[in-house]
Amino acid sequence: MPMTPTQAATGTSRPAQTEDAIELLRNDHRAVQKLFSAFEKAKDDDFDAKSTLVRRACEELTVHAMIEEELLYPAAQVALDEDDRPDVEEAYVEHYLVKVLIDKFTTLRAGEPGFDATFKVMSEMVQHHIEEEESDLFPKLRKSGADLNALGKELMQRKEELEAKIPKDAGDNTMRLR
Ligand SMILES: [Fe+2]
Repeated sequence: MPMTPTQAATGTSRPAQTEDAIELLRNDHRAVQKLFSAFEKAKDDDFDAKSTLVRRACEELTVHAMIEEELLYPAAQVALDEDDRPDVEEAYVEHYLVKVLIDKFTTLRAGEPGFDATFKVMSEMVQHHIEEEESDLFPKLRKSGADLNALGKELMQRKEELEAKIPKDAGDNTMRLR
């Protein structure tokens, strides 16, 4: 039986573990963009599909923000010249805002006013994050000579650890993991 768009977007298949740090983070970005576009395509009244997609996006984004804060940004501070270093303060503020929206889904249910709008605003903020990293930080890191294979392994290991701990309900999982 062919997979529905929701099943395809929420699938758990993993790429081979040969990704370096940038490939891993880009794949995270692609995964979350797939969830955003599946949400846009979901029927207005398909609340089950929408809930599933939002829950998966919240999980993905929670883990993604944590591995970036714990591992990527510190590595970038070491590997890049001062002018090229990511503005970590700005990244933290952006991550914080996404977490506030993730937290709204602890109580907000599909079909309730504000559910779709909250997810839309969240997807726009994340899209901005993706564009910034992929056009600026990642190319600079690629050029820096940093050991992206070693960093990729660390990111994958931490990602698996966090995914194993994550509660299987929507909401601000970051707070519960800390
Ligand atoms: Fe990212």
